[in-house]
Amino acid sequence: MFEAETVWEFSMADRVTFGTGAIEELGEELTDRGCESAMILTDEGVEAAGIVEQAVSSLPSDVAVEVFTGVEPDPSVAVFERAVAAAREFDPDILIGIGGGSSIDVTKTTSVVAEYGGDILDYVAPPTGGGKPVPGPGLPVVGIPTTAGTGSETSPVSVISLPDERLKVGISSRHLYPDLALVDPALTASLPPGPTAASGMDALSHAIETYTTRRYDMKQRAESAAERPDYDGRTIVTDQLARKAIELVGDNLRQAVNNGSDLTARRNMSLASLLAGVAFTNAGLGATHAIAYPVAGEHHTPHGVTVATLLPAVMRFNATSAFDRYGEIADILGEHVEGRSRDERAELAADAVAKLSADVGIPDGLSELGVTDEEIPDLAADTMEIQRLLDGNPRRVEQTDIEGILRRSM
Ligand SMILES: [Fe+2]
Repeated sequence: MFEAETVWEFSMADRVTFGTGAIEELGEELTDRGCESAMILTDEGVEAAGIVEQAVSSLPSDVAVEVFTGVEPDPSVAVFERAVAAAREFDPDILIGIGGGSSIDVTKTTSVVAEYGGDILDYVAPPTGGGKPVPGPGLPVVGIPTTAGTGSETSPVSVISLPDERLKVGISSRHLYPDLALVDPALTASLPPGPTAASGMDALSHAIETYTTRRYDMKQRAESAAERPDYDGRTIVTDQLARKAIELVGDNLRQAVNNGSDLTARRNMSLASLLAGVAFTNAGLGATHAIAYPVAGEHHTPHGVTVATLLPAVMRFNATSAFDRYGEIADILGEHVEGRSRDERAELAADAVAKLSADVGIPDGLSELGVTDEEIPDLAADTMEIQRLLDGNPRRVEQTDIEGILRRSM
């Protein structure tokens, strides 16, 4: 029998520091914690951009530092294993993840697997993994994003790619929340236009999917606090964060892409990413993210590009279940909604997202990403497996609906 949930929770990284120059406070953080050694986990691109050097230069000279640059985009189990082995060998007092979502995801998982042992897949939910709960907090983690989009620095989730299965799986635990999310928008200034656009559209899709996801009291009541899912529905808090994030992306992403050294646009995009990240990791997402996983698994398309190409069609499909919300989104994105019907307003919201996507150079559709019509039934079938995300979608989705969304996104 359906019994509505009456309680909501709100969680995020233990602490957030935000603003230009925040990176210079990293040393103080380590001193306060009495850390004598630190391991930085990152990728070669971030190191080449001089960002690791910048972080290291803020550390007290007596802190022993090891840098692991082996993180790759869409990291596989092997990448996670190498990071855990490096952490066990060096045995640091703290882990510092610097980069996009991948580096921070690898860092969070390393913190608990280095501490408690076991294989990476032990901690992944069945049927892929062993479903072992993370026993407790791992090594302290600082997450330092160099992109503005994923929200990994404040989330309890790590995403792992299984290229052989063409699948992405996650480890999710409250013990994965970073101890500190250190967000310094200046670190995103060297990000090229393409990744800036993709990560910005990811942040927008987080905010829009969170703003329209099912409210907490439209979900089944949890038996106990421990049983409550991570994505337990939107609330008054996530609504405020999501609205502001939509506005910030609408007002700043074009400028951040066109002129990467505009620190005001960069700061506003970093803020949008942070707010949207905090919002979606509490409320949940919807069909856009569900469909994006099998598409990206098959074609290795960047996550932000994939969600951006799907988002307008998902919004049009969902409109009948959330007219008011999409109307508000159209208004926030600067469309003229006065005197328009509710259908027209929802349509304007999808149009505004498609326009923004085009303006920042996101490919025009899935066919440009290599997706073919023949694959659509399989991609839709794979999407139906991702109920964790589909549960939050405001409109009930069947496989044929997903096929329709994919066709309209070609
Ligand atoms: Fe995303």
